[in-house]
Amino acid sequence: MDKIIIEGGYRLEGEVTISGAKNAVLPLMAACILTEGKNTFTNVPDLADVRTMSKLLRILGAEVEFEDGVLYVDTSKLSNWIAPYELVKTMRASVLVLGPLTARFGRSRVSLPGGCAIGERPIDQHLKGLGLLGAKIHIEEGYIETFASRLRGNIIPFDISTVTGTENIMLAAVLAEGDTMILNAACEPEVVELANVLNKMGARIKGAGTDIITIKGVDRLYPIDGYQIMPDRIETGTFMVASALTKGDILIKGCRFENVGAVVGKLLEAGVDISLVDGGIRVKGSDRVKSIDITTLPYPGFPTDMQAQMMTLMSIADGLSVITETIFPQRFMHAGELRRMGAEIKLVGSSAVVKGVPYLSGAPVMASDLRASASLVLAGLAARGKTQISRVYHLDRGYEKLDKKLESLGARIWRESE
Ligand code: EPU
Repeated sequence: MDKIIIEGGYRLEGEVTISGAKNAVLPLMAACILTEGKNTFTNVPDLADVRTMSKLLRILGAEVEFEDGVLYVDTSKLSNWIAPYELVKTMRASVLVLGPLTARFGRSRVSLPGGCAIGERPIDQHLKGLGLLGAKIHIEEGYIETFASRLRGNIIPFDISTVTGTENIMLAAVLAEGDTMILNAACEPEVVELANVLNKMGARIKGAGTDIITIKGVDRLYPIDGYQIMPDRIETGTFMVASALTKGDILIKGCRFENVGAVVGKLLEAGVDISLVDGGIRVKGSDRVKSIDITTLPYPGFPTDMQAQMMTLMSIADGLSVITETIFPQRFMHAGELRRMGAEIKLVGSSAVVKGVPYLSGAPVMASDLRASASLVLAGLAARGKTQISRVYHLDRGYEKLDKKLESLGARIWRESE
């Protein structure tokens, strides 16, 4: 197992290119289950989660290859509808195969995801939606079992906005008989990406990106060739914070400004200099940032996946900041580790009250989940002295070569085996 070591205090400067989005590619891989033949995607990030989803697709009978950012998924010989516990327990997004397996095989057996470091994450809305599409559902021996000779379109009113819930129901309803209308649908750009790809495969989806999505069921979908995965908006935001924290000057290339509006807004409020330039977003940090309040919300609100990174920035800001989590109210595992580096953070219910200190100091810390790991790497870049982050496999699940990219910007960062 690797650990990351960072010698803090170096200003980041230069250009960085954003990789393909983890949370876009995973549902697209699940969408391949609905096709019969060879699908290819480009700009695919080399991530542990992509490898896990590849393993799962192979178990289902697909041939999957990945080389230089190109992913090949051949679903001609798909023959199995069981997603085993051993894989699902390592990646919750595996549950995205539930809808497409039910649509393609009329049945599925998918391990029920268990607890998670960022809080309770039920999938009741996924199951409610599939039930409304006519699937019979049982929970047996820790597995969800679904049966439906053919799914039927229906109105699916979600109780809350759920990203993978919306995706799972879209993935099921595209091959259903008749029309489906999803109400209170998630509006995240990754949902739009999935709808675009499904439409290219032959589906008839309208309204993705709004909270009402309509789907006209079709009889079959066709493989897609050479689709380029959208850039990762959370990686983009993470580099923006890295520049702000180190008083740096970074040009972030290959990203989409329109997808990071809420993060840009908050950084501007904190006093960070951000401009849209030819080729990307330029982020310049200068003086100590001002403390600001942040509340996480569904898109286009401030993303929960950027909450931990902003907490690091607020740890050394001037003043008092209140960070409120409305998506995953217990997603604060990083707070205790940041405290080990000198941050002053108090947790009050689903809020963190952060009193900015003049500086953080390097310490051995432990990563607990993907975005918490990113917040600790960021803290290490800004801290005085050496920071040692263990359990970095969490980071490798969702950031492509983060340490190498930071090194190329001037950070003193390297890996050692534990
Ligand atoms: N929820 C329910 N019931 C459900 C589904 C969700 O109560 O059936 C609740 C959740 O517990 C949470 C809220 O609804 O309180 C929103 O959860 P959502 O379903 O939207 O989250 P998700 O689909 O499981 C995706 C991302 C997460 C990201 C969240 C929120 C993927 C693969 N994962 O998860 O990404 O934090 O949306 O934006 O798209 C990450 O990348 O680090 C990550 C955790």
